[in-house]
Amino acid sequence: MQELSRSDIQCILDLSEQFIELNRQDNKKLRDLQGRTQINLFFENSTRTRTSFELAGKRLGADTINMSVEASSTKKGETLIDTAMTLNAMHPDVLVVRHPDSGAVALLSQKVDCAVVNGGDGQHEHPTQALLDALTIRRRLNRLEGLTVAIAGDVMHSRVARSNIYLLNTMGARVRVIAPPTLLPSGIERLGVEAFTDMRRGLRDVDVVMMLRLQRERMQGSFLPSVREYYHFYGLDHEKLSHAKPDALIMHPGPMNRGVEIDTEVADDIHRSVIREQVEMGVAVRMAVLRLLVAGGGNGNGGDA
Ligand code: CP
Repeated sequence: MQELSRSDIQCILDLSEQFIELNRQDNKKLRDLQGRTQINLFFENSTRTRTSFELAGKRLGADTINMSVEASSTKKGETLIDTAMTLNAMHPDVLVVRHPDSGAVALLSQKVDCAVVNGGDGQHEHPTQALLDALTIRRRLNRLEGLTVAIAGDVMHSRVARSNIYLLNTMGARVRVIAPPTLLPSGIERLGVEAFTDMRRGLRDVDVVMMLRLQRERMQGSFLPSVREYYHFYGLDHEKLSHAKPDALIMHPGPMNRGVEIDTEVADDIHRSVIREQVEMGVAVRMAVLRLLVAGGGNGNGGDA
């Protein structure tokens, strides 16, 4: 996301809009990527990203394979680079890769001939998450420019936060991050955000609240006294939310930990929570990304299969 310009982002979001309508129809199938091969290579667990990339590829007509890392030769000691070069020899057109190490996806992309999409690398970036978040906000509030967006929770370990900060700054939004001091990276202001350790102050008059889960799989050591105390100070409930604008959107990339970073009534608030809409936008955004990378530009009207 760090490398994408404002017009790149607008182009992806505009193309995604066309796929939203398609995905709501009975016949969801196009031929844009017919004959192309997509391999999803996830070295970390995923529900939303992997499923939506698989659906996205299939709806565009690609042959989509989910490589099972657990059952692969990485378990026999094969390195990431050797795995990439092995897959490359089978002539895929696109690899979608999630990896626990920051920078691993970029490294892998230098060793293969095809397009590579980052499905999340360590605590570095999760670009398609930021794009689907932007699409969700733009459809609800009709713009990104001039909005104030608060990203609250475990900012330290969050690739979602980093990609959203880059995108929202590029698109002219104001970004605040809110976290306990132990989960706020030092110097985060250099990324162009305002940092808060108090939820109520950080949420004051914001247009959008994005909550983040505690990413325990990336924590080395203890960052919090207790989950109960964390929820008391940083869990999003209706009282804390009352400091945001009355119609502020509630977002969460998932997976959610109800009663930890978000109250269940807030998460399910049918008027303000757009968490399920984020999931829907994920398929459309990933179709747009695959189409642009594999089939090139165009209007997305690939025709019915
Ligand atoms: N938001 C997100 O990346 O979810 P998954 O881990 O389920 O893919």
